[in-house]
Formats: sequence, C-alpha cells, structure tokens
Amino acid sequence: MNQVEETYIMIKPDGVQRGLVGEIISRFEKKGFKLIGLKMYQCPQELAEEHYKDLSSKSFYQKLIEYITSGPVVCMAWEGVGVVASSRNLIGATDPLQAEPGTIRGDLAVQTGRNVVHGSDSPDNGKREIGLWFKEGEICQWTPAQAPWLR
Ligand code: TYD
Repeated sequence: MNQVEETYIMIKPDGVQRGLVGEIISRFEKKGFKLIGLKMYQCPQELAEEHYKDLSSKSFYQKLIEYITSGPVVCMAWEGVGVVASSRNLIGATDPLQAEPGTIRGDLAVQTGRNVVHGSDSPDNGKREIGLWFKEGEICQWTPAQAPWLR
C-alpha cells in the first residue's frame, strides 16, 4: 500500500459524451496523484476484448464490449503511493446506486452498464492495462519543477 504504483484509469464513452472529462481528471489531480499518460482514443473491438477478457464468460460481456467501443474513451495512466486502491475508492462501487456519495460513480452515475470510469483492480493489472492501452513513448515520467518563489 505504501509503494509507488501505477494504475490505468479510463473515462468511458458516456463520461466523454456527458462532458465529465474535466471533472473526473480533476478528482485524481486534487487527490495528489501524478498524471503520466493521457490520450483520447476510439477503442478497437480486439483491445476491448483483451482488456475485459477475464469477464468473457459473463452474461453482460457483449454489451460491455459494445459500450466501450461505442465512442471515444479517455485513457490515463496515474502514478502515486497506493494509487491503485485509492483510485478504486475515488471511483466507488461498480453499481453506481451502491456507490457512496462523494465517489465519482456515487456522484455522477446511475447504471452499472454506464458507470463512467474504469480503474485497475491491482498493481499487476495496472501495469498490464497501461501496457495494453499505451504505446512506448506515450508515458511521460516527470518531476515537478522546483518553485523558486518558495525558496
Ligand atoms: P468489474 O470489473 O466487475 O467492475 P469494476 O469496473 O468496478 O472493476 O466489471 C467491469 C465492468 O463491467 C463494470 O465497470 C461494468 C460492467 N458490468 C456490467 O455491465 N454488469 C455487471 O453486472 C457487472 C458486475 C459489471
């Protein structure tokens, strides 16, 4: 938990179409995590299937793939201490009606099948998903510049 980790966060097509991109990014920025990758992307079918392959036997799988590929998503990689579990807390429960107020899904969504945002569920999946969604060179490692006016 006290390790620097990376997680893959994705604003789903409904989040983009409802104009929630800025609001969602801002929650992760305000928390204090570091944005190291960001792009808008129309997800091809094969990538959606690979991303959600663990759910391929579920009854909702086909609808989930249709939804994720229905319009552009915003792909993000975030870095920070404990960022994987903390992001899941910021996002809230899978079913937005069960998600606590104050979480992204609790505040901004109603349906499980339209729950506006994805977050990796483990550090290993964070790495795996960043590798799936980003090409080499699209992840930026950076250190905040020193602020000379504070010295
Ligand atoms: P899951 O990995 O269980 O949830 P989370 O996104 O919170 O990690 O499921 C992935 C997505 O599948 C979920 O965000 C929405 C969709 N889904 C449904 O459409 N119906 C369902 O009953 C479940 C459990 C998930």
